[in-house]
Amino acid sequence: MADQDHGIMSDQSQNQEEEQLELTLRPQRLADYIGQAKIKHELNVYIQAAQAREEALDHVLLYGPPGLGKTTLAMVIAHEMAVNIKTTSGPAIEKPGDLVALLNELKPGDVLFIDEIHRLPKVVEEMLYSAMEDYYIDIVVGEGPTAHPVHFPLPPFTLIGATTRAGMLSAPLRDRFGIVEHMNYYNQEELTQIIFRSAKIFNTKIEDEGAHELALRSRGTPRIANRLLKRVRDFAQVAGKPSIDSATVKRALDLLQVDNRGLDEIDRKMLLTMIKFYNGGPVGLKTIAANIGEETNTIEEMYEPYLLQIGFISRTPRGRLVTPAAYQHLGIEYSTGK
Ligand SMILES: Nc1ncnc2c1ncn2[C@@H]1O[C@H](COP(=O)(O)OP(=O)(O)OP(=O)(O)O)[C@@H](O)[C@H]1O
Ligand SMILES: [Mg+2]
Repeated sequence: MADQDHGIMSDQSQNQEEEQLELTLRPQRLADYIGQAKIKHELNVYIQAAQAREEALDHVLLYGPPGLGKTTLAMVIAHEMAVNIKTTSGPAIEKPGDLVALLNELKPGDVLFIDEIHRLPKVVEEMLYSAMEDYYIDIVVGEGPTAHPVHFPLPPFTLIGATTRAGMLSAPLRDRFGIVEHMNYYNQEELTQIIFRSAKIFNTKIEDEGAHELALRSRGTPRIANRLLKRVRDFAQVAGKPSIDSATVKRALDLLQVDNRGLDEIDRKMLLTMIKFYNGGPVGLKTIAANIGEETNTIEEMYEPYLLQIGFISRTPRGRLVTPAAYQHLGIEYSTGK
């Protein structure tokens, strides 16, 4: 999974704890997977059809911002198909041999999950073409005069690719996925359900108002909802509260500097920089990144999509613009006549 976590915590032990947590929190079945109704409905049809034909499911590409449940969904698909899943990531497959080793272990119908598939080396990507299309690879064995091509047949398998950047996939690769699904941010109701579900797994009580407040501040993202729930639970416990109420959520998240639209320090820094130094824009992404000391990629993958989604920035051919809604949220007067 893409380990660019969203602000707040990043040290090693916390990451390990989080990985463990994600394992227990991950739903196993499509029916337990909350939200993404359209995707679930479609997948359900494709899975049933493939099973009825006793074929491997067509290759699936999942794309969307981090933490929306791509890895979880890949595991759910394998579980529903009752097949094994091998998990890897684009940058981990450095050379063709690595891919051959992975493909060699697949049994008919198995899932190979490649996270961050946009980061596959070109030579590896090219090998995938025939593997995906006709279930074979051609490899060269030996060196110099003894080198000869070997035709290597593969069992029918399902490649599930996940990426935060569908635009960075080459057309030939993208075209080989029969099923392409765009993951959307979750709405308040879905996030609230996810929070209740996670609280139950944690054996923690959370009040309706508390869950609602937490959902508001979770950026439409289950991973963030789960992480904030964990933090809020600590606050409630130390305060001796038998259940998490909305006052505790507000107090804890104010302390963590997550505001009532889910914006964190970096979002605010980004918007304020655009307002203060560039009169609200238009300003280019690279300029913004340089100003606030973040990678352009990080902003493009993690910060911008949510700000666009809630209508706090807009994209123009000349760069990004801060919208009046964002000014209002930040309590800054919007100056017209720009
Ligand atoms: N639909 C859902 N219902 C319940 N929990 C979910 C759902 N989607 C995601 N989660 C939870 O959110 C967390 C993050 O999900 P996941 O790791 O699958 O995200 P991702 O899209 O793969 O992120 P990344 O792009 O960072 O790899 C997990 O702990 C998972 O349990
Ligand atoms: Mg992932």
